[in-house]
Amino acid sequence: MNGHPFYITWSKQKGGLTYPMDKVEDHFIYSNNEKKLDLSSISYQASFGLRPKFIENAVKKQLDNFSIVAPKAVFELKTKVTKELINQIDLDGGKIFYTVSGAESVENALKMARLYTGKKTVLARKPSYHGGTLGAVSVTGDWRNQSVQTLDQWTLRIPEPNEDTDLSKTSKIFESNSDLAAVILETVPGNNGVLIPTKEWLQGIQKLCNTHGVLLILDEVICGFYRLGTPFGFQSFDLRPDLITLAKGITGGVIPFGAVWTSDKIHEHFNDIVLSCGLTNYAHPLGLAALESVLKYLSDQSFQKHLEELLKEFKKDIESLPQRTRVIGALAAIDIKNAPTWKDFWDAGLSVIAQKDRIILAPHLNLPLDLWKETFKKLEKLLA
Ligand SMILES: Cc1ncc(COP(=O)(O)O)c(C=O)c1O
Repeated sequence: MNGHPFYITWSKQKGGLTYPMDKVEDHFIYSNNEKKLDLSSISYQASFGLRPKFIENAVKKQLDNFSIVAPKAVFELKTKVTKELINQIDLDGGKIFYTVSGAESVENALKMARLYTGKKTVLARKPSYHGGTLGAVSVTGDWRNQSVQTLDQWTLRIPEPNEDTDLSKTSKIFESNSDLAAVILETVPGNNGVLIPTKEWLQGIQKLCNTHGVLLILDEVICGFYRLGTPFGFQSFDLRPDLITLAKGITGGVIPFGAVWTSDKIHEHFNDIVLSCGLTNYAHPLGLAALESVLKYLSDQSFQKHLEELLKEFKKDIESLPQRTRVIGALAAIDIKNAPTWKDFWDAGLSVIAQKDRIILAPHLNLPLDLWKETFKKLEKLLA
């Protein structure tokens, strides 16, 4: 559809994909009065469905209390939620820097890493996406980097895990560069195909970082908040990052929000040095209220029991498909030659992330089991 008064993201404007949205219900988008089951959590952010009442109500309640604060304001909600987030990250302390999006979390993590190390170069993977702002897109390796390429003189690509299983080539990159500030990795690259690295590879990268005094930034904008089945993605691989970037599921998409967790050594560095990072809507109370409700929901035993059952069935079903698949937690890629198009799925009542030779699924974490089973039958038929 053409002629909108607003831009369409990541598209040629003429003929860019849009669709009418009349309303949303728990797990469905209504478009021209047709129901589409959301199997992608929209863009991986709607982890708790499309009308998560517990988040909406927490935001409404906060709105009745207060919603405008100064970035430097100290209030009970800010202190309480931050302590709880640090507690659930469970990496011996640390400190949180708040943002309003994934890209901003990445920007601030990169800035902190450069301020901390006094170095500039960042190592990153080619199949990766870290956000659309200049700094975040410069470490991004997928097609979205290729048209802008700004700041790329400070990004170096590391070999892919299958090109360097013993990390000998990557090790040489560490040894031959004295300007390395950080490595940034999506714990599992999500939108580039759910490329699940081995624990050994990830731990090997962490070891190289430790040996060479380089910081490890894990981008968990998709992987955080149980998307990989563990509270945070790094816990699935026994990692100890120096910085973690968060967004999307942090508020289930209800309020734009994000965060960066930093380890003690990073935040202690800024005790006597200016932390040259900030934003007007830092630690916004509506975001904090939403996050508080998300953390409470995630700790709930009945949610955890449901998630365990859903993930078991999800994995079993996806892996039963004849296609090549990759599944971790509530995130899956199905490789398909001549894949049905996004519209084919849409017309069959399913909203998925459809790419050239694969589809990616990221269902709501609270999707009822019977609805998943019913949906899987449809999916199976479409893929046959
Ligand atoms: C891994 C990862 N990092 C960062 C971002 C950027 O997040 P945002 O779109 O909220 O800026 C995304 C968005 O898809 C992402 O998938």
